[in-house]
Amino acid sequence: MTTPPLMAREMADRDYIVFGKPSFAEEEIEAVASTLRSGWAGTGAQVQTFQRAFADYIGTRHAVALGSCTAALHLALVAAGLGEGDEVITTPLTFAATANAIVHSAATPVFADIRRDTMNIDPVQVERRISSRTRAILPVHLAGRPCEMDALREIAHRYGIMLIEDAAHAIEARYRGGKIGALGDASCFSFYVTKNMTTIEGGMLCTNQDHIANKARILSLHGMTADAWARFSDEGYKHYDVIFTGFKYNMTDVQAAIGIRQLAKIEDWLRRRREIWTRYDDAFSGLPCIRPAPEEPETVHARHLYTLLIDETVAGMTRDQFLQALHRNGVGCGVHYRALHVHPYYRNRFGFSPNDFPNAFYVGEHTISLPLSPHLTDDQVARVIAVVRAILVRSL
Ligand SMILES: Cc1ncc(COP(=O)(O)O)c(C=O)c1O
Repeated sequence: MTTPPLMAREMADRDYIVFGKPSFAEEEIEAVASTLRSGWAGTGAQVQTFQRAFADYIGTRHAVALGSCTAALHLALVAAGLGEGDEVITTPLTFAATANAIVHSAATPVFADIRRDTMNIDPVQVERRISSRTRAILPVHLAGRPCEMDALREIAHRYGIMLIEDAAHAIEARYRGGKIGALGDASCFSFYVTKNMTTIEGGMLCTNQDHIANKARILSLHGMTADAWARFSDEGYKHYDVIFTGFKYNMTDVQAAIGIRQLAKIEDWLRRRREIWTRYDDAFSGLPCIRPAPEEPETVHARHLYTLLIDETVAGMTRDQFLQALHRNGVGCGVHYRALHVHPYYRNRFGFSPNDFPNAFYVGEHTISLPLSPHLTDDQVARVIAVVRAILVRSL
């Protein structure tokens, strides 16, 4: 999710625990400097290396590096052939980019409610929303928890529709021996600055299907048959043809140089987030809040967000009062997400009311995400715990 910029006062306050703080070591700084010194900072060799490393990590034949996950979602839908008159089933409990990308592809987003425990799209609800126009399901592995991929794949197979994963939160996630991101027709990852790894801004489209990868590559750079790398390389100038009305969605070598170094550390960072998660879970048991459901058997949860549900009837305060109290006590937090169907654009365009998707609405009004950066020190984790306990125990 896109976190608002910090206020200067917070930046200046060294004790404030910033939500989703990234970490750059000397190796990232050196990689950026040497890319700049190389004389080629646009889309080139670093992007190629990053794409290969990411495809190997996810286990797909192709990885197309892009400027954002939003771009990846848009291109995945367009390259898969979706457009006017088509329906795509997705969750209302997601960042705006998921459903916006469907609208931008000219297809229609159709929401299916989530399960309250996992907060992920409910396959039973998905099947109820299938119509003769449904062309794809777009599940979001919220907070890093894998969706019920067996059930979703079975539905997609039975109705002959596509499965395009929004894996923005779930780079490291696994499901029953398979890697999240390699289980559908295409998958989209985010390297936004608060994500499990970052290129500051950036995204990746992964797929095993040659035609989706090829079309996405061409669409990512104006619809031209030869990218800038090929046009201006030392092999000499090459002409290009414009074969689609494409976009400007390419990743730069500067971003890719950071991504290569971050990807190499991603499993170590997951281990650290797991430790923090366990400390939170132990410390918050018995408090008047709902903790995340345990990791499902045979899955790996990518631990992108540690969320609590704060319900006034149990906690004695609203989620927003809790959020403000955390902030006053120097703990930054996030809300992932207020359900999309209550936002004015979606509410007005599709005529939704909050209880059309009661589980997404409930979670959206009660959820809060605590800091889970792997770079938090043990002292900072202890401070988050102490502040949460103090606020919730006082409220009893
Ligand atoms: C679930 C989800 N999907 C898509 C996106 C879009 O990612 P990006 O910011 O890389 O475009 C985000 C980003 O916050 C997200 O959380």
